[in-house]
Amino acid sequence: MDQKDIQDKMQALATALHAHNRAYYVLNDPQISDYEFDMLLKELEALEKQYPALSDPNSPTKRVGGDLTKKFQTKKHRIPMLSLSNSYSEQEIIEWAERCQKTLQEASEFVCELKYDGVAIGMRYQNGQLQEALTRGDGEQGEEVTANVRTIKTVPLQLQADFPSDFEIRGEIFMPQQNFEQLNQQREAQGEPLFANPRNTAAGTLKLLDSKEVAKRGLDCYLYGVHDLTEHAQGHFEAVQAAKVWGFKVPDPAARMIEKTSSIDGIMDFIHYWDAQRANLPFDIDGVVLKVNSFAQQAELGLTAKSPRWAIAYKFKTQQVETILESVSFQVGRTGAITPVANLKPVQLGGTTVKRASLHNADQMHKLDLCASDTVQVEKGGEIIPKIVGVNLSLRKSEARIPFIEVCPECQAPLVRQDGEAQHYCPNELGCRPQVTGKIMHFISRKALNIDGLGEETVELMYTKGLIKNPLDLYSLTFDQLLALDRMAEKSANNLLQSIAASKQIPFERVLFGLGIRFVGETVAKKLAQHFGNLSALISADLEALLAVDEIGEKIASSILAYFSNPLQLELISGLQAIGLQFETAQKVKNSDLLEGKTYVISGTFETFSRDELKELIESNGGKVGSSVSAKTHFLIAGANMGPAKLQKATDLGVTLLSENDFIKLIST
Ligand code: IVH
Repeated sequence: MDQKDIQDKMQALATALHAHNRAYYVLNDPQISDYEFDMLLKELEALEKQYPALSDPNSPTKRVGGDLTKKFQTKKHRIPMLSLSNSYSEQEIIEWAERCQKTLQEASEFVCELKYDGVAIGMRYQNGQLQEALTRGDGEQGEEVTANVRTIKTVPLQLQADFPSDFEIRGEIFMPQQNFEQLNQQREAQGEPLFANPRNTAAGTLKLLDSKEVAKRGLDCYLYGVHDLTEHAQGHFEAVQAAKVWGFKVPDPAARMIEKTSSIDGIMDFIHYWDAQRANLPFDIDGVVLKVNSFAQQAELGLTAKSPRWAIAYKFKTQQVETILESVSFQVGRTGAITPVANLKPVQLGGTTVKRASLHNADQMHKLDLCASDTVQVEKGGEIIPKIVGVNLSLRKSEARIPFIEVCPECQAPLVRQDGEAQHYCPNELGCRPQVTGKIMHFISRKALNIDGLGEETVELMYTKGLIKNPLDLYSLTFDQLLALDRMAEKSANNLLQSIAASKQIPFERVLFGLGIRFVGETVAKKLAQHFGNLSALISADLEALLAVDEIGEKIASSILAYFSNPLQLELISGLQAIGLQFETAQKVKNSDLLEGKTYVISGTFETFSRDELKELIESNGGKVGSSVSAKTHFLIAGANMGPAKLQKATDLGVTLLSENDFIKLIST
């Protein structure tokens, strides 16, 4: 085949895949099997790999992600992205509609639609191709997140039929509840912190730098506004329906997700319908949006500084349900803080099943005056766990108040509550199971010592078996001990040991964060490490010296003092020091001559180190870091998602490739 044939073949494959994608995701009417689809996709992928120069940024293969972004670029919106004025009051909605009609002095039609609870996106299409996708930002300028938006299956990359040649379309990116729950289940299993709600998760996902990860998360997108239309439609409703033909996912009138009405009664009917039905939607909405349909009338009504006069949002009140309180349990956190949790008779709320609710602390329980088997009112705020906002006293069956506990439910140590603190604590820091395993989980977490391959369950198992009782014990684990554990195969045992060894290179500030000193988060740890330079200086600092550090106040300072006055903690730390963890900020001092005389180029992203950390490691071991691959380069440290051009050049020049693990092995010798 000559170049032209290949190009035609790739074009034909892309066109077919775009059409099948639309049939599957937008029209719900697949034309071929998943297997057949995958085969076509693989064929195109192979061609793109073979002929990278012919690959198209809007190729259907881009759905799986792959492009890495270093930092999102800020770009100005061609048309500012306004917000909506909103109201919780039906009366105000009626007044808005009457005001519109009065100003227009003629009959008008209203469009009622859902207020999707996600993040706004503005997408520009030129000649039917997605060119650019910007977040709302401050309304004037937003961040360019095109690579991530390309992974959303319901966003068309190539339009069909009679689309305008250059236009912008806006909509809402959201995460369906089911995908959100799946994601959190995975995170729970891996011992990672849970996401609070689908909206925040969608916003966070859209700003991930790795589009492959975005592709896995299952975002979705509904369109709610088409701009720059001159001939395709006279009104909003018609424009949105036209966008369906071009390939966009738009709300379905048959499911009442969008509706045209010319009366205020029609608006109210739509509001009432969705207030009752919203729990049955597979995604979150926080209200409905009402818009004047005709573009000409919209222009006549105009805008205020922040929002159009031709649209308004009616917001639903926070959802509440009643259910029965079955019991109260008390959880012990990593810091020993005791949190009372209400166990509830399972009940549906906002699309998810609620079984538990946080009661926060003793005062909160006291305020609610909870009795056994009370009927309680549960509300979903922005948090992961819903909260109990009240008790239905008319249904109270018993006067048996539920007491707060006096001893730790895990280790039976008497609880303490310091003056002015809301929380009770278990003081048995080093001997209370959830505190110990929680501290170990924190120690190994990604932002601390980044020890991979160890989930919460395994840590608990190791604790129960007496293999580890503190972070230091991790460093004496043996291959045989690991292999004897359920579910630990040779390969994962090896990886884990390697990851534990690599953690000895993690910089001081992250080790300090990993110790889990109360109130010493990532930022405080960094400040302390920079200020004191090493651990012994920090240990000998008194209150005054601590308070002299930027952003450190009484609360943090006394927590640090208390931590270092505990002989058991000091013993643990000297153990960690002895096995070689970093307890000094990386000066530009030389650790070794291991890499002397060699030039390294770093490319892609890494699991254990940031690129800056890698650079420092190379330099402190005598090596040089080059910015691009050249004849002078000896090694290319190849991370994930490295650019194909760099790889090609390195291969051409005969540069040796090192994986992250190769490099770790090299410097641990
Ligand atoms: S129209 C100028 N329609 O709500 C009006 N917005 O503050 C532009 N939203 O940031 C917005 N569903 O992200 C419109 N059906 C809908 C919407 C919707 C959700 C979001 C949008 C905007 C915010 C309004």
